[in-house]
Amino acid sequence: MDYGKYFSDDVPSFMRSPVREIFRKVDLSAIYSFAGGYPSAETFPLEKMSALSEAVVRKYGAKALQYGATQGVPELREAIAARCGVDVRNVQITTSSQQGIDVCTRILVNPGDAILTTAPTYLGAIQSFRSYRAKVYAGEAPAGSKVKFFYAIPDFRNPSGETMTLAEREALVERARREDFIIVEDSPYRELRYSGEQLPTIYSLAPERTLHLGSFSKIFAPGLRLGWILGPEELLEQIYVCKQALDLCPPVFDQYLAAEYLGSGELDRNLAATVELYRGKRDLLLSLLEKYMPEGVSWTHPDGGLFLFVTLPEGVDTVAMYDEALAAGVAYVAGSFFFVDGSHRNTMRLNFSFMDTARMEPGIELLSRIIKSAIWKK
Ligand SMILES: Cc1ncc(COP(=O)(O)O)c(C=O)c1O
Repeated sequence: MDYGKYFSDDVPSFMRSPVREIFRKVDLSAIYSFAGGYPSAETFPLEKMSALSEAVVRKYGAKALQYGATQGVPELREAIAARCGVDVRNVQITTSSQQGIDVCTRILVNPGDAILTTAPTYLGAIQSFRSYRAKVYAGEAPAGSKVKFFYAIPDFRNPSGETMTLAEREALVERARREDFIIVEDSPYRELRYSGEQLPTIYSLAPERTLHLGSFSKIFAPGLRLGWILGPEELLEQIYVCKQALDLCPPVFDQYLAAEYLGSGELDRNLAATVELYRGKRDLLLSLLEKYMPEGVSWTHPDGGLFLFVTLPEGVDTVAMYDEALAAGVAYVAGSFFFVDGSHRNTMRLNFSFMDTARMEPGIELLSRIIKSAIWKK
């Protein structure tokens, strides 16, 4: 049967994630994987989950298994409002920050509208933007474009680990006010800082025109699919209506678990241990790159998050090199996937959170051999 004729005009704009395609093909735990954006399983509070679940059942009973409010359960909204220092009316719970990106795009963008972002930027956001037939540009849109928002990841950006300085944040806010667009501030890594000083969120600098996206994925567990949006009430009201059609409400049991986890202080205790673990992994990866990478290779030095970004000599193609690397048993993500124009084919993203510490050295040693042979063949 020819199903093509049934599909909507949006379908041809859907993009497959090359990262998720990698996960489909290989068992990442069987190779040296610097590819995914997965947290370390060591950071999941497995031994606390039974007690947390029992507390939820005892405290909330059947309510925990019932439909809940579209904005999220009050207990979690209030806990997040207190943590972020905002009014509870400015908090919408989401079914993860990927949904946050999607609902912001859905309420703001018509086909053909422009979205600005950084180069590189988060691939999952590009997927969402394109699915609404938005035009996505790095930095500047062509004259005459209707720019609806700037999508930024100010803290430890996926994929490069870079952080926007205070001056860059202020300049973006100033430009948004001058050119009149919204800022979508995606911030799932903000609390994973290993060095340097915390900087103000863009939301705190321009609460009237920023939608700030938070997530429990990297500070609790991504399998819960929970996040939040902070923003002006009028924008959240549209997101609230949009979410009624999307999923009625975020997962209720998970929200109560998160509220308990936050309220008991366990989240902060576990987060401190997570930051320690990841700081060590970041430092180890940086020292291994120093030890094994050949001349002409450079990389970012992130203050937090889960990734760093490697630049190889001009002419080395990390997309072409990928199959060989995988066959040898090491995975990365080609950096060009994170550029809206597919450029920068000599770059790659490396994740340092997922793999066991003991496996990192043989993994980087292997990767460096593949890189050296690609440079030599060039
Ligand atoms: C910048 C960025 N935004 C959003 C997400 C999606 O996270 P969530 O699990 O909250 O949907 C990710 C996941 O890696 C990310 O890197």
